Amino acid sequence: MAKKKNVSGAKKIKALREEIEAHNYHYYVLDAPVIPDSHFDKLLQDLQALEEERPDLITEDSPTQRVGGAPLDRFETVVHQVPMLSLQNVFSEDELFDFDRRCREGAGRTLMTYMAEPKIDGLAISLRYENGQLTRAATRGDGRNGEDVTSNARTISSIPLRLVGKNPPTELEVRGEVFMPVAGFNHLNDQQRINGEKLYANPRNAAAGSLRQLDPKVCANRPLSFFCYALGALNGVSQPDNQNDLLKFFKDIGLPVNSISREVQGVDQCLTYYEEILEVRSTLDYEIDGVVYKVSSFQDQERIGFVSRAPRWAMAHKFPAQEETTQVKVIEIQVGRSGALTPVARLEPVFVGGVTVSNATLHNAAEIDRLDVREGDTVVIRRAGDVIPEVVSVIKERRKQNAKRYRFPEHCPVCGSEASVDAGGIIQRCSAGLSCSAQVKESIKHFVSRKALDVEGLGSKLIEQLVDNGRIRSAADLFTLTQSGLSKLDRMGEKSAANLISALDKSRATTLPRFLYSLGIPQVGETTSQTLASSFGSLEALVESSIDTLEAVPDVGPVVAGEIRRFFDQNHNVLIINSLIGHGIFWDTTPTQSNPAGVLKNKTVVVTGTLPSMSRDQAREWLIEQGAKVSASVSKRTDYLVAGADPGSKLEKALALGVQVLDEEQLKALASSEVA
Ligand code: IVH
Repeated sequence: MAKKKNVSGAKKIKALREEIEAHNYHYYVLDAPVIPDSHFDKLLQDLQALEEERPDLITEDSPTQRVGGAPLDRFETVVHQVPMLSLQNVFSEDELFDFDRRCREGAGRTLMTYMAEPKIDGLAISLRYENGQLTRAATRGDGRNGEDVTSNARTISSIPLRLVGKNPPTELEVRGEVFMPVAGFNHLNDQQRINGEKLYANPRNAAAGSLRQLDPKVCANRPLSFFCYALGALNGVSQPDNQNDLLKFFKDIGLPVNSISREVQGVDQCLTYYEEILEVRSTLDYEIDGVVYKVSSFQDQERIGFVSRAPRWAMAHKFPAQEETTQVKVIEIQVGRSGALTPVARLEPVFVGGVTVSNATLHNAAEIDRLDVREGDTVVIRRAGDVIPEVVSVIKERRKQNAKRYRFPEHCPVCGSEASVDAGGIIQRCSAGLSCSAQVKESIKHFVSRKALDVEGLGSKLIEQLVDNGRIRSAADLFTLTQSGLSKLDRMGEKSAANLISALDKSRATTLPRFLYSLGIPQVGETTSQTLASSFGSLEALVESSIDTLEAVPDVGPVVAGEIRRFFDQNHNVLIINSLIGHGIFWDTTPTQSNPAGVLKNKTVVVTGTLPSMSRDQAREWLIEQGAKVSASVSKRTDYLVAGADPGSKLEKALALGVQVLDEEQLKALASSEVA
C-alpha cells in the first residue's frame, strides 16, 4: 500500500513538473500564457508540497529548485572551447555602407540577407545543455575564460532547466544575454533605497551585479531575464544553415528568443529596421543600446570570416547614448500649475539621447537630498525616449571643495508665499493658489494647450507677457482681449493679433471632455476627463457629484475623487468656469454616443498595445461614441481588454482576472452585433 502511494507520488510529481514546464514555455518562449499567474503559482505550490513529502525525488532541474542553492566562496573559472566574441560598432550610415560592401565582397554577392536583432543591454552568457539538461552557465569574461554562474542562472525563470521535445541535442552551447527588465530594475532600486543599500546606476549594472552574487538566493530574488541569439556548439541534431532558422530552432526547443528580430536585405532595409526599433525603444520593457545585423547564411559567414575577436559578418549599429556627463550651472525652482515647486538643474548643454539637453529635472527636495547634488557638480544625466532628462548621479570625485549643500527654499520663488509639504509628504507647494502669478501663467498655458482648448498662436512667452503686465489674471480673461489691445504688445503685429482673436473665437466651440481637461484639475488627465464626461453627461452633474458617485467611476479612486471635489469646492474655480461660459464657451450637450443602444453601452473597456488601424486615442474616442466607459487600468470591473501588438502587463492582468480579451477586429464585430 505504502509502495503504491509512493509510486503515484512520483508520477504526480513528474506530471506536475511537465505541466509547469509547458506553462513556462508558453509564457517565456511563445509569449502567450495560457493560464493566469495565480494558477501557475498554485501548481508550483502543489509540486513543492509533494516534494516535501518525497525529498528523495527532488532533482536539480525541478522547477521548485529555482529558489537558489547554497552560497559559494568564489566562482570557478570556465574555459570557453569556442571563444565568446564581441561585436564591432558603427554609429553612422557611411560606416554601415562600408560594412555591407565588405560583406558582399567577402561572400561574393550583390545583395546580402541579414538577420536584424535588437542589441540587448545586458551581459553575455553561455549555457550548456547535455541531452536537454542545463549543465553549466558561464559569463563571457574576457571571451576565453569566464566564470561559472550555473547556480545563479538556474534561478532565472526564462532559462529552461530542460529543453522541450523528445530528441534534444546531445550537446548544445547557446549564447545570449541576461538582462533586467526596466520595471524590475526600478522596483529593485526602490527596495534597495528602503533598505538603505546601494542603488544600481542602470539595468545593465544591476543585471551584472545580480548574476555575480555568490549567494544564489539573492540572485533568485532579482528580476532577471534572458534571450538567446548565437550558437557555441551543437551536436546530435542537424544544423540550421542560417541565423533565421537558428533562432526558430532555439524557439522550438524551448529557448526564448527576441520576437522583434527580422530578416532584412541590403542596407536600406537595415536602416528601416534601425529607425523602427529606435522608434519603439522607449516602449520596450527592457533596455537596448542599438541593433545588430548578422549575415544570415552560415556559409556566407564562414567566407567572410573574423577580425581578431569579432566577426566581420556582424555589426552593432549603436543608438545615440542615453547617458552623458555634464556640469550643473545652477539649480532653479519652477512653480507648476498647482503650485508644486520642482527643482531643475540648468546644465552645460550636452548631446544625449539624440538631442541637446540643457535642463534636467531633480524631481523634489527628497531627490536632491538623496543625490546630494550641488551647484557646480559634474553629474550623469539621462534622457530615455521622450522622458524628461534627469540627473542619475553625481560624480563626487569631481566636486569643487567649496561646493555648498543645496538648501530647498521655504518660500515660493515667484510670489514669496510660504511653501508647505503636501499630504504625500514629498512635494513642496506654494500656498498662494491663483494669487501666485506663476500658477496663473501655468494654468493658462495648460488651458490653451493642444489637448485642451487648442488655441493656436498663443505661446508661453505671450501668456507670460499678458499676465506680467496685468492684462489677464485667468483663462477667462483671454476672451476679453481685443485686436487693438493685442497689437500694441511687443512683437505683435496687426496680422498676428487678428489671427489670435480668431483662434480664440474658434476655441469657444469645444467638447465637454476637452473643457474638463482644460480646467487642469490635479490628477485629471485626458482619459479621466473623457470618462468623467461620459459618466456624468453634463458639467452640472459633475460639479454637484458626491465623493461616492465619483468613486463609482472607472479609474477614479479616493485620491482623484478628493481632488475633483476640492477643485469644485473652491469658489475661485467656480467663478472662472462661470465666466468662461459667460464668454461663450460651449459644447454639444446632446449625448455623444452614436450607438447608444449598442452592445458596448456602459461597458468598461481598456485599450492596450498597438492596434492595426487606429491609434489608442482614436480607439478611446470611438469607444466613448459607442457608449463605453474607457478606463486606463484593468480591474475586476473591466468588461473587455482590447489588445493590440506588444500588449504588456495589462494583458497578463486581464488573463489573470478572467477579463475577456478582444483584438480590434473582434471589437468591431462585437460593436456591430445586435443587443440580445
Ligand atoms: S551576437 C558572434 N547578438 O553585445 C557575435 N550580441 O557588444 C556575438 N548583445 O557580447 C554577439 N544583443 O553581450 C549578439 N542580438 C545580439 C546581442 C548581442 C546584445 C551583446 C553581447 C555581446 C555584445 C557585443
